[in-house]
Amino acid sequence: MTALLDVKSLNKHYPVGRKGLFGKGRMQVLRDVSLTVAPGEVLGLVGESGSGKSTIGKAVLRLIDSDSAGMTFDGHDLTRISSADLRRLRKDMQIIFQDPYASLDPRKTIRATLAEALDTHRLHMGDARQARLEALMRMVGLNPDFLDRYPHEFSGGQRQRIGIARALAVEPKFIVCDEAVSALDVSIQAQVLNLLADLRQSQGISLLFISHDLSVVRYISDRIMVLYLGRVMEVGPADAVHFAPQHPYTAALVSAEPSLARSSSRIRLEGEIPSPLTPPSGCVFRTRCPFAIPACGAGVPELRPAGDGRLKACIRDDISTGE
Ligand SMILES: Nc1ncnc2c1ncn2[C@@H]1O[C@H](COP(=O)(O)OP(=O)(O)O)[C@@H](O)[C@H]1O
Ligand code: SF4
Ligand SMILES: [Mg+2]
Repeated sequence: MTALLDVKSLNKHYPVGRKGLFGKGRMQVLRDVSLTVAPGEVLGLVGESGSGKSTIGKAVLRLIDSDSAGMTFDGHDLTRISSADLRRLRKDMQIIFQDPYASLDPRKTIRATLAEALDTHRLHMGDARQARLEALMRMVGLNPDFLDRYPHEFSGGQRQRIGIARALAVEPKFIVCDEAVSALDVSIQAQVLNLLADLRQSQGISLLFISHDLSVVRYISDRIMVLYLGRVMEVGPADAVHFAPQHPYTAALVSAEPSLARSSSRIRLEGEIPSPLTPPSGCVFRTRCPFAIPACGAGVPELRPAGDGRLKACIRDDISTGE
């Protein structure tokens, strides 16, 4: 099947330091990240804070500039698209943020917020408007009678439902969910995850589902991509990656899940994630990897097939991750 989103070798760096005697430095926060999302597919993106997840989300939505060897969405070349075409395409590519309160205008009723999204793309104008607004509320499990309320009158979980309704309003093909449930209590997290899973089924929407929490990501994803310091460590079918991780970093993330911790096979992450300003040579994970050997510093491990349709960037095949 042709990918809806196809990103080849995405790189992103930020300038660091002041211009002056030593010139400007560069901090590379994404290196050679390639990914595809098929129509209706959920790709989960997981990694510790600072690993570059949000940067990928913003880069594929063209909210920030980046370098890549190719980036297409629904047949459009995102690296060459005109700003007028990009504005039109924005209808099809939406984002839901972690903090719905910060992204909802406190002075606007829910009706005004949703109407603004529809007006931008001239959708459901005139008489069709009221029915569409009510349908959107019902779609996300909110009472249509609440349309004229303000964001502060809702709970965190309800506000996130409003954020989802706003994204859905324009009938997108693709939504980036960036830590969309991370700020919610666990029981509310499950409700919102179920809602997203249902909507993905009923509307056939593709998701790039970003979270630092592997247990959340695996719940909703078809495939999972594991990031560390802006590099892909492992990517493949969600079950393979989660139940039989082949990369030590993935195995460490799995070990950190409370429900699955088995004392005999725990892999603990020691130490801090290094600064992207001074990434380790060779395998970027080697300063924290319990399986590191001198050869791990010699070169950057290539992503290579590691069974069950997955790829991993690790030179060793003889690690035991407790399976
Ligand atoms: N505007 C920016 N300027 C400089 N550095 C940034 C900027 N945005 C993000 N970064 C850096 O890029 C890296 C990746 O950030 P981010 O994509 O937000 O990670 P994540 O979402 O996985 O927590 C971090 O080291 C972060 O400090
Ligand atoms: S290449 Fe070496 S350091 Fe990197 S994950 Fe594999 S074993 Fe660990
Ligand atoms: Mg983030």
